[in-house]
Amino acid sequence: MTTITLSIDNKQIEADHNVTLLSVFKANDVLIDQICGGQGMCASCHFFVIDGSDSLTAPTQQEQMTLQFTKIDRPGARLACQTRIVGNGVVIGMPQGTFVKSTEYLEQEIGKKAQQTLIHPMTGEILVEAGKLVMRSALEKMKEASNKFAANFSKN
Ligand code: FES
Repeated sequence: MTTITLSIDNKQIEADHNVTLLSVFKANDVLIDQICGGQGMCASCHFFVIDGSDSLTAPTQQEQMTLQFTKIDRPGARLACQTRIVGNGVVIGMPQGTFVKSTEYLEQEIGKKAQQTLIHPMTGEILVEAGKLVMRSALEKMKEASNKFAANFSKN
C-alpha cells in the first residue's frame, strides 16, 4: 500500500493512500470529534486545508451541503469523515479550541473565563473566545444554532 506524508498542525505524519482524514486523525491522536458518527452531517470533524487540496478527494455532496450550513469563519474547511487522502503535500490546520458537547456544560461555565475557545460542535461557530467571559448569550447562541441545524437536517 502506498504511504503518503502530510502535515497536521506542523507535525509530519504518514498515512495510507485513500484513507479518510478521520482515520488518519484517530490513528495519530489528533483531537477530533465525530458527533454525527461520520455521516457528514456535523462540523465536529472539520479541519482546514492550508495547502495541497489537489491531494484530497473532492467534497462529497453531503459535505458541501453541511459546510454551506455551518458558520466556520475560516477558509479551507473540510470534513474529515468525508475526505480521503490520495497524494502527498497536504498541509492541514486543526480548529483551535474545544467543541461544546452540551448546553448543560455551557450553562455551568457561565460567569467563568473560557480556558479555551468554545466551538459549537454542529455548526463550527465560535461561541466564546479563549480568555473571554462565558455569558448567557453564548448559551442562547448555542441553543439557536442547534435548533436551526436540527431543523435543516430533518428536512433532508
Ligand atoms: S463526524 Fe459529523 S461530519 Fe464528520
